[in-house]
Amino acid sequence: MIVERAYAHVESYDDGEWPWSLPCVRMLLTDGLRFTAPVTFLVGENGSGKSTLVEALAEGFGLDPWGGSHDWRYASPRAKSELGERIRFDAAPRGRRMLGSWSARTGFFLRAETALDALEREGFAPDSVSHGEGFLAAFRGKFLRPGLYVMDEPEAALSFASCLELIGHIDRLARSGGQVVCATHSPLLTALPGADVIEVGDHGLRRTTWGELALVDHWRRYLADPGAYLRHVLD
Ligand SMILES: Nc1ncnc2c1ncn2[C@@H]1O[C@H](COP(=O)(O)OP(=O)(O)O)[C@@H](O)[C@H]1O
Ligand SMILES: [Mg+2]
Repeated sequence: MIVERAYAHVESYDDGEWPWSLPCVRMLLTDGLRFTAPVTFLVGENGSGKSTLVEALAEGFGLDPWGGSHDWRYASPRAKSELGERIRFDAAPRGRRMLGSWSARTGFFLRAETALDALEREGFAPDSVSHGEGFLAAFRGKFLRPGLYVMDEPEAALSFASCLELIGHIDRLARSGGQVVCATHSPLLTALPGADVIEVGDHGLRRTTWGELALVDHWRRYLADPGAYLRHVLD
């Protein structure tokens, strides 16, 4: 593990304005976010603030907010967000050296919207491969060194089998001293044994378990009987 806790101090803010309007961001300001396992999944409804959080964590660590590896941290024309520039981390014992200097920090930020551009910059020639294949090439080629790997809904482009492969890469990273923070809607990814699952919502941030996740329950019931859900949305 690289970091044990993320936090941010802000002198004053307008809680009617993004990102301070999000309960999860306000909870980060008051309580911080503790990481108790090498893999953390952030789960929650659309609009709950998962992307806002993971982007700020990536920025705070020195990763390019457009997505990409540590090598690209200065390549982006995008300014750091107000939240991202205030994020600080408490290092885990094995992360002290890395947090001690910007140049020692390694990692990768996989951002759904800009993943293809980022992968192209990193030499993964996504022209010749599908979106999902590009993602997998990045996981195979870039997810090797211990570092902080931040992902935003990586499952979006992946088939079932590819998601399973991704879980294998995530697990290997975690076992070799790396750390993963991943926003996701995937009942498959969140099932990784030993991972921390944090629910993002109106309550802010809440630690939970895979078995207690509403999304897992919905998928289970949907697969058992799609009609029970579809009759509410189809004419
Ligand atoms: N750059 C931004 N400026 C203003 N509002 C934003 C910005 N980015 C996201 N939001 C708003 O913040 C809320 C949370 O968005 P987001 O973090 O993308 O949620 P999630 O990833 O959980 O779906 C949404 O209501 C969204 O419209
Ligand atoms: Mg999002």
